[in-house]
Amino acid sequence: MSEFTDKIVRVRTRPYYQSSRAQLYLGDCFHLLSRTLPESIDMIFADPPYFLSNDGITCQGGKMVSVNKASWDQGANWRQKHEFNRRWIRRCRKVLTGNGSIWISGTLHNIYSIGMALEQEGFKIINNITWQKTNPPPNLACRCFTHSTETILWAQKNDKKSKHLFHYDLMKEMNQGKQMKDVWTGSLTKPSEKTEGKHPTQKPEYLLERILLASTDENMLILDPFCGSGTTGAVALRLGRRFIGFDNVEEYLEISKKRLIKAES
Ligand SMILES: C[S@@+](CC[C@H](N)C(=O)[O-])C[C@H]1O[C@@H](n2cnc3c(N)ncnc32)[C@H](O)[C@@H]1O
Repeated sequence: MSEFTDKIVRVRTRPYYQSSRAQLYLGDCFHLLSRTLPESIDMIFADPPYFLSNDGITCQGGKMVSVNKASWDQGANWRQKHEFNRRWIRRCRKVLTGNGSIWISGTLHNIYSIGMALEQEGFKIINNITWQKTNPPPNLACRCFTHSTETILWAQKNDKKSKHLFHYDLMKEMNQGKQMKDVWTGSLTKPSEKTEGKHPTQKPEYLLERILLASTDENMLILDPFCGSGTTGAVALRLGRRFIGFDNVEEYLEISKKRLIKAES
């Protein structure tokens, strides 16, 4: 039995994949979060569905293509989106330790609901990070400004006793001795990070690297309830953290598994 299964059984169900420092589970994160031990996770990164697959068009590699990513990303009305966000954020709060923190990424399609849901479910927002993309796809309809940013909210439990971890000095050092600001600029995910398979909304590794270095220590346990291609897990393992990931699409968990194996080797 691995160190992970011996000492830290955090999710009471059979993993899809496990190693000594990581576990992946195939299934609905609502169910899996309810099977996770309360207050057992040090940090959560979540990149939930943005609900932007609305039959519009976008540009990819110079070609006009549908914006539709997948059925899990299809539009819902604001009530349905908000109810969805409140439910998974409520479950995340239960599994997070008292001093733990949560990072959630989104766009205008879901981030206002996420911000409100965080406050309604007992979180306090610490930062509003703007990820500025240096190479966004052009706006083909020419009816509004080119969308070139995403938002990442960072929050902690809204509880007087909660003290979130922030490696201020390290962030300053990584920013040439100046305080790190809340606008992070960089490119879309590089093809070299997609060698294990393609996911329609894969995040670049440099974002996760900064997030993990800023708010976690080595050996801490990180959970990603919508892990997709496993970006959070691959970076977590490379940085000596431990990882649990959930996704309800087996094809994506296979990519995650390959990336975790590569990161551990
Ligand atoms: C925006 S993507 C995450 C991408 C990921 N950050 C990456 O870098 O690859 C959202 C993921 O959530 C998964 N998903 C959607 N609804 C889910 C649910 N209820 N339970 C578990 N996974 C879900 C989708 O299959 C998709 O892979």
